Amino acid sequence: MAFNISALNPFQKKGKFVAIDIGSSSIKMVEAIPEKNGYYLANLGVLPLPSTAVQNNMVVEKKIVAETIRNLIESNGVKANLVVSSVPGRAVIIKKIQLPAQGEEELAANVEFEATNVIPEALENVNLDYQILGYLGDGSQMEVLLVAIKKEIVQSYTECIQEAGLTPAIMDVDYFALENMFEISYEPKLDEVVGLIHIGARYTSINVLKNGISTFTGDLPIGGESFSESLTQQLPISSDQAEALKITGLLEGKEDVNLEPLLLPTCISLAEEISRTLSLYGTMAGEEGINSIYLSGGSAKAAGLCQVLRDKLGVPVELSEPFRGFNVAKNIDRDYLNESALALAVGAGLAIRRKGDK
Ligand SMILES: Nc1ncnc2c1ncn2[C@@H]1O[C@H](COP(=O)(O)OP(=O)(O)OP(=O)(O)O)[C@@H](O)[C@H]1O
Ligand SMILES: [Mg+2]
Repeated sequence: MAFNISALNPFQKKGKFVAIDIGSSSIKMVEAIPEKNGYYLANLGVLPLPSTAVQNNMVVEKKIVAETIRNLIESNGVKANLVVSSVPGRAVIIKKIQLPAQGEEELAANVEFEATNVIPEALENVNLDYQILGYLGDGSQMEVLLVAIKKEIVQSYTECIQEAGLTPAIMDVDYFALENMFEISYEPKLDEVVGLIHIGARYTSINVLKNGISTFTGDLPIGGESFSESLTQQLPISSDQAEALKITGLLEGKEDVNLEPLLLPTCISLAEEISRTLSLYGTMAGEEGINSIYLSGGSAKAAGLCQVLRDKLGVPVELSEPFRGFNVAKNIDRDYLNESALALAVGAGLAIRRKGDK
């Protein structure tokens, strides 16, 4: 699956690609180079952002975001100048439509008209992209996925990339980046239904794939910040202390704390919301159940979360390995890679996108 909802550079630019994932707690950079048998992971990096930089799915503090991107590029010696980035899925309107089967040119001419019927925004205010999903029944009807996003949201991301001295070349949606990550790292099995659940700092996104193709997407306003808030409510500690405690299990860097019982209420409410969202998917699509779930995002490692999800959803749940399909450069620190891999899952999917992919 490959989207470019920005239509930024109609002319093919020369240069190398680097993926930049602008999250609400940090910016992630991944540089990968296609090889004969897969991908070479050349470079990666993560730098934190102040929590005010990204708000309501938009970059609001452009200067600090641009500086942080610049820092990531310079401190890691990245030479690439073409950026593959993504907007958060929850900022995007995604619709599946059915049309009489038609050729690509005809579809390109008709798609805007079709979009006016299903996209609840004036088309001049949105960036639009689409993809043919397949043909139905006797082949006389086709199913097309429409993706639309407000231009001002896309611009808030692309302007920062430009201000960092780089060229925004591809603007994807994080759902589809995760799908790409999964596709190259795991071989989708026939008729297998997989749930990709990505738990970031503010949001959790859910993407259900059947035969490797997205059949349902949804998101929840629960993430790492919810875990930290629950710690500050239970213990007399600051948000910064809670953040460190959540990740290291240590209070003030020394006192061992048993995190699982403290994080349990948030794990349970996240599991309940995920279960509710997935059962909605089941009734909507008349689908059979999900066979397995792969977690990613920085908060996927929250103590006890995997087990709570297994118990609540009754399916195997495991942490994904976003770079298992990559040949890792020798100079990349393995501990750092293992530590940050889950948070880099969107970046991994973006890093293997190239112009013209569909
Ligand atoms: N070992 C850990 N245990 C629990 N939480 C962790 C751990 N490591 C990182 N986190 C949390 O993961 C979150 C960051 O994840 P990620 O980088 O995926 O989010 P983001 O992309 O910045 O946010 P979003 O996508 O929601 O805008 C933070 O809330 C951080 O506290
Ligand atoms: Mg994120």
